[in-house]
Amino acid sequence: MLVSAKEMLDKAKAGHYAVGQFNINNLEWTKSILLTAQEMNSPVILGVSEGAGKYMTGFKTVAAMVKAMIEELNITVPVALHLDHGTYEGCYKCIEAGFSSIMFDGSHYPIDENVAKTKELVAVCREKGISLEAEVGSIGGEEDGVVGMGECADPNECKMIADLGVDMLAAGIGNIHGKYPANWQGLSFETLDAVQQLTGAMPLVLHGGTGIPEDMIKKAIDLGVSKINVNTECQLSFAAATRKYIEEGKDQQGKGYDPRKLLAPGAEAIKATVREKIELFGSANKA
Ligand code: 13P
Repeated sequence: MLVSAKEMLDKAKAGHYAVGQFNINNLEWTKSILLTAQEMNSPVILGVSEGAGKYMTGFKTVAAMVKAMIEELNITVPVALHLDHGTYEGCYKCIEAGFSSIMFDGSHYPIDENVAKTKELVAVCREKGISLEAEVGSIGGEEDGVVGMGECADPNECKMIADLGVDMLAAGIGNIHGKYPANWQGLSFETLDAVQQLTGAMPLVLHGGTGIPEDMIKKAIDLGVSKINVNTECQLSFAAATRKYIEEGKDQQGKGYDPRKLLAPGAEAIKATVREKIELFGSANKA
């Protein structure tokens, strides 16, 4: 069932758990994530970066694939199809393509411009029943060409954006896309706590879910995080399983080169990663 992310996240915030956003890159990724969410009776958010959307030939292709897959696989758990770190133009393209949720990442604009553009998108999304995520304070590292310095958000700016009526808010709290460096300082729970105090019932989003230790994930959920984004970790699992298959020479045995065989261990590895995260985030049986 393709839905906006609003209801599932409001429920998660009230129930003190988080819904996973797993980024997709192709058919295998999408299928593995949808099947695992269904198996675990968990709501799920499929994240699509602008780069991944382009790779899959465009947002219309992605929306058509996801909608058809939900139907063909009999997926009954709530699924949101969400633009990840959208530009202003990208948001409108995804709205037109039929996404059920979008993120407008205006964190690199001066706060007044971020507020103005977010406000405009709140009105458009409300009318169409699409959920909207906004960002304050950039997420560190690089994801599909989106580069951030990783500064912590100003809680007062978070309140300004939350008050516009967005459905979820990503606040930078020292989190980074991709692998965390050995000298990483950890999440700033002080910032998260201050943001949560000022934004109340607003579901907060934790980007850069890959590699955050379990105790930090649990503490972040306790402090109001209701959506956690995971991208790199599925890529690493897929790559490791595919490498093993090839290094064991399995692609050269029988018809092991058949893409349906070659990509199967990677697809299974994505499922295992998603399963692990759904358990950790506490969203199993919350569909
Ligand atoms: P990771 O790639 O670090 O898991 O981050 C994902 C993310 O935040 C998507 O926006």
